[in-house]
Amino acid sequence: MITLASVSKIYRTTTIETVALNDLNLKIEKGEFVSIMGPSGCGKTTLLNIMGVLDTPTQGTITINGVDIDGLKNKEQAEFRNRNLGFIFQSYHLIRTLTVIENVELPLLYRGISSSKSRQLAEEALERVGLGHKIRMRHFPSQLSGGQCQRVAIARALVGEPKVLLADEPTGNLDSVAGGEIIELLQKLNKEDGQTIVMVTHNEKQARQTYRTIRLLDGKLVV
Ligand SMILES: Nc1ncnc2c1ncn2[C@@H]1O[C@H](COP(=O)(O)OP(=O)(O)OP(=O)(O)O)[C@@H](O)[C@H]1O
Ligand SMILES: [Mg+2]
Repeated sequence: MITLASVSKIYRTTTIETVALNDLNLKIEKGEFVSIMGPSGCGKTTLLNIMGVLDTPTQGTITINGVDIDGLKNKEQAEFRNRNLGFIFQSYHLIRTLTVIENVELPLLYRGISSSKSRQLAEEALERVGLGHKIRMRHFPSQLSGGQCQRVAIARALVGEPKVLLADEPTGNLDSVAGGEIIELLQKLNKEDGQTIVMVTHNEKQARQTYRTIRLLDGKLVV
């Protein structure tokens, strides 16, 4: 369902050139829960951003659900991303001035879904991540714990029913208990809803809880 063929990413500035990904070939099947591991700077976030159509490869092609991403115009890429992909970031990326429920319904409002329908779907998404209490929904991110913020971020990623969830160190800011709960939640989404999940982690124990681990070193796959 996600195919990368000969993908390279080179960041160029006037003085230096960094090869972040070096001729990568990779296939991730529908319904897989995969971890990506490797030392800092080996290209994990770059790989996730390219899979998530947040960045473009310097060379190579990426296909998601049979769609060649390179063949889409900018606006079409944004639309494709909004409809098919959900992102979870280490630092949550919640909007501080919006309440929990407003953060979660935002992707739906962008899509032009009515405010009453968006509210209902956002409430359902928050229930799925264990934050169903109405009082919590009216809180602002600063009033929540890190684990709760990450649950809100997962609800926001899920609310549009994306086919693929991309998570960049989703437990990186959490203690081991809260982190373990987030991994359990992702496992549940994978098993019960058949979500395809690609997760960057530095934690071997977490990686063992997924189907397989893709290891990167200096922008190449370790085989
Ligand atoms: N926008 C950018 N401009 C220039 N170089 C970049 C850019 N983004 C990443 N890089 C470089 O590309 C390489 C891979 O970076 P990337 O963020 O993918 O690493 P990572 O494996 O996610 O590391 P970490 O575990 O620390 O998050 C690094 O050498 C980094 O400095
Ligand atoms: Mg990274």
